Amino acid sequence: MDHYKGLTIVRTRRELRTWRDALRREGRTLAFIPTMGALHDGHLSLVRLGLQRADVAAASIFVNPTQFAAHEDFGSYPRDEARDIEMLHSAGCTLAYCPQPADIYPPGDRTRVLVKDISHILEGVPRPHFFEGVATVVSRLFLHVAPDIAVFGEKDYQQLQIIRRMTLDLGFPVEIVGGPTEREADGLAMSSRNVYLSADERARAGALFQVMTQCAALLAQGEPVAGVLDAGRSRILAAGFASIDYLELRNADSLDALPTDQLPPDVPARLLAAARMGRTRLIDNLPVQRG
Ligand code: PAF
Repeated sequence: MDHYKGLTIVRTRRELRTWRDALRREGRTLAFIPTMGALHDGHLSLVRLGLQRADVAAASIFVNPTQFAAHEDFGSYPRDEARDIEMLHSAGCTLAYCPQPADIYPPGDRTRVLVKDISHILEGVPRPHFFEGVATVVSRLFLHVAPDIAVFGEKDYQQLQIIRRMTLDLGFPVEIVGGPTEREADGLAMSSRNVYLSADERARAGALFQVMTQCAALLAQGEPVAGVLDAGRSRILAAGFASIDYLELRNADSLDALPTDQLPPDVPARLLAAARMGRTRLIDNLPVQRG
């Protein structure tokens, strides 16, 4: 067990269990914020949200290999544990769990968690392995940490809905809380991968949020869905995005498709997008509700 100022750092499941048992004996509740490190203000807002809902906050830092495909950036994913630890401490976190890979994936591991259907739409189309890796690691982290609540960013909205479904289906006694997306001044959603943007790309990247905001307003007024989305796609490309994987309106809970004419009143919907700025893939989402 290491310590950095008031923050305890544990690297094994055994140490974690000792810490967790002591917290339970003290009768204090625990909020858990799973991360892959490369922290930014968005993560810290999740820690702060957790501390509004529970006595103590614990974060994990684990770059999860099973959610990366062979051609993706697992090897080059930004890693800076000392900086992450300092940031977690500054946000009021009490514990950082930095597990060894073998504690999460024991030798010979063969078990995976798949939340069917919702894992293979939108983000799951170009990354068919991705949400199985996420659900697998989050379920193991829930078993290790045994939190009362767990906080996930709405920035990764599909991930949040998949974790909600998995938590219900597997009966984890954990309340799932979604934290609002933190944004830069021009609206760009904070993301660990924004560091990949060149200065020129960064200057144009805020257009995704700006176009989505306009689309969301039109959809909420009952404008025809297909027309609004077509115009939105054209404007995202005109703003300098290289390509669009999707710009879609979905049911906010199930992420099922919705009618393409008009958003029915009182159906909670979510506008979701993924687009490439240069070689960096950006995602974002916004709530849409007709009054
Ligand atoms: O959102 C992330 O950073 C990751 O997908 C998570 C939830 C920590 C699982 O590795």
